[in-house]
Amino acid sequence: MTEAYTVLARKYRPRRFADLVGQPHVVNALRNAIVTNRVAQAFLFTGPRGTGKTTSARLLASALNCARRGDDAEPCGECESCKDVARGEDLDVIEMDAASNSRVDDIRQRLESVDTRPARGRYRVFIIDEVHMLSTSAFNALLKTLEEPPAHVKFILATTNPEKIPETVLSRCQRYDVRRVTTAEMVARLGEICAAEKLHVAPEVLRAICEISEGGLRDALGRLDQLVAFAGDRPTLEHAEKVFGLISRPRLVELLNALARGDAAFGLRFAEEVFDSGKDVAEVLGSLVSLTRLLMLLAASGGEAKGLDLPADEVPQMHKVAERFGLHGLVYIAEILSDCRQRVRRAAFPRVMVEAALIKLTLVGQLEPVGVLMDRLSEMTDTDSLSGVTGQGDSSKSDAGAQQASQNVGGRQESAKPATRSENSDVSQGSKRTPTESEKAALETLKRKFGAR
Ligand SMILES: Nc1ncnc2c1ncn2[C@@H]1O[C@H](COP(=O)(O)OP(=O)(O)O)[C@@H](O)[C@H]1O
Ligand SMILES: [Mg+2]
Ligand SMILES: [Zn+2]
Repeated sequence: MTEAYTVLARKYRPRRFADLVGQPHVVNALRNAIVTNRVAQAFLFTGPRGTGKTTSARLLASALNCARRGDDAEPCGECESCKDVARGEDLDVIEMDAASNSRVDDIRQRLESVDTRPARGRYRVFIIDEVHMLSTSAFNALLKTLEEPPAHVKFILATTNPEKIPETVLSRCQRYDVRRVTTAEMVARLGEICAAEKLHVAPEVLRAICEISEGGLRDALGRLDQLVAFAGDRPTLEHAEKVFGLISRPRLVELLNALARGDAAFGLRFAEEVFDSGKDVAEVLGSLVSLTRLLMLLAASGGEAKGLDLPADEVPQMHKVAERFGLHGLVYIAEILSDCRQRVRRAAFPRVMVEAALIKLTLVGQLEPVGVLMDRLSEMTDTDSLSGVTGQGDSSKSDAGAQQASQNVGGRQESAKPATRSENSDVSQGSKRTPTESEKAALETLKRKFGAR
């Protein structure tokens, strides 16, 4: 008989505080409480699913009863007590899942033994997971014991929905908010686990998995399991894209880069691929919107990626794309994409809609800020004032026109100031070169639209 496979999330449940990822505030407080012997009678761990609530509860129970606890409160992980707690079989640690034991009788039955002395450890620890599921009368029964628990009893509650817990219960617990784990932290943890499991998974693959897991480490580990089941011990980004129907960020950046260059064919091929592979188009558009948001933040901060939870090696390329579109162009893109995303599910011809949106994006890359064009316009119609035209936004002469323009271009807010792009340097120099044919045509259009000054 082959041995049953243990899923990674279970196999790698942390046995030591040091292995709990991304929750230093929780770990430090718990360690401190234990070391200084100021352990509360009841704890509540709250937070999104798969981020370490149950793990924290078991770690704390372990640390409370460990026979060879370290000076830093770290449970040894090897004594009988630690081993039994990890297996969920310790006599002194009573674990109860309120999701499937929500009735008052369930809780009464568990609490019958509160007065019993601990069998081996220092405390009898009651862990009530998903505690928000308890019925009202069950909460009342719990409250009675919480009000005056025997000195050898500790309660550890955990929940994803603290707002569903009665105030009376909340007020008797020391509360710890377990937070979403950052992508970087998750990637690092998955990397360690891959090494231990002899799996060869490139960082960008781990990153893709972690990003769609939205801060939940359990989900990320579940996805790693799924990917390895599908592709073996050397999964690639293509495998991940296939299994999870995702498109990795580097590929989305590549798309935007191509569109910024005006490469409409690339956009059409991309749309074809998305539709042919049966991916959820709205989700792909959603990823593009999130990416555009990151680009806006990068553009606004001049390429400073601090606090963006972005891998350093992707930043330069992304910043380049961001600069190419410019902040205003990106705002426009975000609007086009989120609008398309909202409508695509109900659209009669979703494919055309997506194609059209992508082609619109190629135009954004080619657009010159209206302010620049208006400056050119005044340059042509008002040759005497040429020397007064500067690149640093001395557009006072064209302000009225530019403002009007900003209200008119597709109803969008467009830059009324010349951009800092290098292509525009000829304007800032105030050089007197003759406009090209296409520039003349553009100016003619502008004149018709906004009236020559
Ligand atoms: N912060 C974390 N650090 C390390 N592993 C984690 C963390 N959060 C979740 N995990 C992994 O996910 C699994 C489930 O975590 P768990 O604590 O049960 O999540 P929940 O917050 O839903 O109670 C754990 O066994 C562990 O493998
Ligand atoms: Mg849990
Ligand atoms: Zn121990």
